This record gives sequence, structure tokens and C-alpha cells, in this order.
Amino acid sequence: MSNTSDQLHLQLIDNVTSCLRHTDLPALQASMREKGFAVIRGLFRDKLLRQLQDECAKLIDRHGVERNLHMKETAYTPRRMVNVKRDRINEHGLLIPRIYDDPMVRRLFEIITGERFTTCPYTPEEYIINCLYRADDTHGWHWDDYKYGVVFAVETPPAESGGYVQVVPNTSWNKDKPSVEAALFSGPAYAFRLEPGDAYILRTDTGMHRVSPIQEGTSRVVVNMVWAAMDELDKPTSHETMETLFA
Ligand SMILES: [Fe+2]
Repeated sequence: MSNTSDQLHLQLIDNVTSCLRHTDLPALQASMREKGFAVIRGLFRDKLLRQLQDECAKLIDRHGVERNLHMKETAYTPRRMVNVKRDRINEHGLLIPRIYDDPMVRRLFEIITGERFTTCPYTPEEYIINCLYRADDTHGWHWDDYKYGVVFAVETPPAESGGYVQVVPNTSWNKDKPSVEAALFSGPAYAFRLEPGDAYILRTDTGMHRVSPIQEGTSRVVVNMVWAAMDELDKPTSHETMETLFA
């Protein structure tokens, strides 16, 4: 490992261990079991968080691509955002690929879910930056292709300015006839907001989720990562929404 890579690894160890000191792990495991998500408060902080914010700002500025579409595969829900694709991040970023490969970060989410994770077999899903920055930008209701999604909050709108997460756990994605209403009415639904440095893990194949539209003058930046659970490696997985998003 280079010096920089060594330093990042040490900073990640420091951030994760210090987060564990103030985190109630059994409560996160129970939240995962019962509600299909768990929010880890203050995972990244200080220098590491500033570095992540700086890396995301540069990548969005130089490699961000505007998306404004309605996704047929998820009942025509809207995607209004800027994305930076995995390959651009891998090529021009430093910290995000390091976080993805860091065994301690991955282990934290394995402990919360009781799963063993490995690199996502579909490379474009490994990580992506999502940025909402105009009034009404939103990541509409959807499910994802893999069992779990992990999101690191980089910038978040103030309370009551939108950009919070809504989830309806224990639902299913009928790809032939997707229905947001069928899932919403099956309830219960949950909502939570994030501060920069927070992270969450969500059961994204059975939890229908969205990011609510943001208000003018605010922005929301996250890094979304996908590791595959071991039992997903032998299972055929399709990638319609990612392919539509990047078409
Ligand atoms: Fe998602």
C-alpha cells in the first residue's frame, strides 16, 4: 500500500472504531431485522468527512451527468439528479474506491446484517455518487437489483427541506407490473433524515424506497455502494434500472 492508501486505511479504522464506541449495535441489528434498514450516525467525521466531501464535489463538477427521466421499470417514478458513474469514480477518485474495498467498513455492515459480503459481480453497481441540487430533484420510488444498498451521506438538506429517505419494507418488485401504490398501501412506511457523515444500510430488494424531493437552495449528495451477499453470487440478476439510467 502507498503512504496515502495507508493513511486512508488508518483514518477509516479510527472513524469506524470511534463510531462503534457510541453505537448501539444490537439496536441496529434489531432495526435491520424488523424494519429492513439501519442508520449509523456519525460514521465518518472530521478530516475523512471533509476529504469525502471534497472528492465528491470535484467528481460531480468534472464527471457528473444530469438525469431527468421517468423509470418505466418502477412504474414511471422520477429520477431527477446528477450521477457520477463507478468507472469515473474509480479512475479519478481515491477515497471512495478505498472505502468500498476496506475490510473494516464492510465488516461493520456484515455485523449489522448477519451476512457475508463480497464485491458486486455487476461492476457499475459497486458505487455511484447521486446528487440532488435543484428544487424538486428526487430519486423516486424504486427497488434495487441486489439485496442491500449502503449509503454514505456527504451533504444533506436542513430538516424540513426534503431529501429524506422513505421506506416501505417487506414489499416486492413485480417487474412485469410494478405498482408503487400496491406497496405503499401494504404499509407500514418509515422515514428518516441524515446528517453529513451518517450512513445507512437498506434491504433494497424488498424495501421500496425513495428520496423525497428537495427544496430550492439545498442539496443532497450521497455515495451509494452495493456489496453482494454470498447467496447472490449464483443467482441470475438483471440490471434494467441501471441500464436505463445510463442509457
Ligand atoms: Fe435505491
